[in-house]
Amino acid sequence: MRILSHVSAKPYSTFRFQQTLAEVIELSSIADLNAYNPVSAPIVLGEGSNTIFLQDITAPICRYIATEKSITTIDDNYGLLHVAAGHNWHELVTWTVDNSWWGIENLALIPGAVGAAPVQNIGAYGVELADRCLYVDFYHWQTKQVQRITAARCSFGYRDSIFKQDLAGKGIIIAVGLLLQKAAMPILNYNGLDNLTKNVSLKTVYETVINVRNAKLPTPDKLANCGSFFKNPIISHEQFVSLQQVFPTIPGYKVNQHSIKVPAAWLLEQQGFKGYCHDGVGCYEKQPLVLVNYGSGTPNKLLELIAMITDTVHRTYAITLEPEVRLLSASGIIKA
Ligand code: EPU
Repeated sequence: MRILSHVSAKPYSTFRFQQTLAEVIELSSIADLNAYNPVSAPIVLGEGSNTIFLQDITAPICRYIATEKSITTIDDNYGLLHVAAGHNWHELVTWTVDNSWWGIENLALIPGAVGAAPVQNIGAYGVELADRCLYVDFYHWQTKQVQRITAARCSFGYRDSIFKQDLAGKGIIIAVGLLLQKAAMPILNYNGLDNLTKNVSLKTVYETVINVRNAKLPTPDKLANCGSFFKNPIISHEQFVSLQQVFPTIPGYKVNQHSIKVPAAWLLEQQGFKGYCHDGVGCYEKQPLVLVNYGSGTPNKLLELIAMITDTVHRTYAITLEPEVRLLSASGIIKA
């Protein structure tokens, strides 16, 4: 266990606001977890690629940093990849591709740690973690026990899971189990991958995803951001049809018989937010759903920009945008 006191928040959030964290506790084994007795529920953090600190944080911040992984062959085709929560996600994807395992190549280049992946059920280019996850190992602060939660019990949804709901604040993810396979299973229906042929190699899918992402999304190392800032809103079929009367080009993707998912990026672009700057923060010029910090941004300016966007979208479309990113106040979560 390593405890760091009064550290700069900058390396702990890819949005890189200048805040201070009172205490960061790094844990790397079950023994560490057993020895750690938090007075109140700590804030759990991975690599900070989906978390923005709006104030100096007084609550303890906990990170599980173990990175071991192992793959067990199930039969001629399937393999079970067990990986500790502290492993970097993209490095894991690269490792699976280098070792000829299909399954998570469409999730290449998503920033962050493996342990964060189930929390918001990361997804991109037609695949989400839920499609490959077998189980999540969860350590409960109160009982000091590890519970293996099968995927069926993780309540995975669109950028949602039990870890954001019933289990929020109750413990920490320490490992994830993924089902991978040797036989090719390219998922190529998403825009950008749809020009690849069915006999495409694993490496080509992986490299294409990286190229598509690099063309659209800013690299957090170069321009501070936390990926998509808002979730794509899901509205009723009736509301979608009435919006179509006024905005005939509005895109929508069927979620089920009653609901349609509308790309928030489209709503933002239509309202002039693409490339919009607001005193050091703004909407990325190639993808307005990604809010960025140009270096001089402050939490207040970000909150102003969020209010501007959500008010405009609500006034124009009667749609309520919800943040996908976790915004933290001094003692904990403001919005999840
Ligand atoms: N669009 C515009 N203008 C733009 C960009 C997009 O109008 O400048 C519209 C288009 O209609 C486009 C649609 O938005 O077809 C969807 O855009 P895109 O494919 O870029 O995806 P997204 O819905 O904005 C989601 C995820 C991303 C993920 C991509 C690819 C959410 C909140 N975001 O973005 O995930 O990489 O799909 O699968 O669901 C993240 O979660 O941080 C993230 C980056």
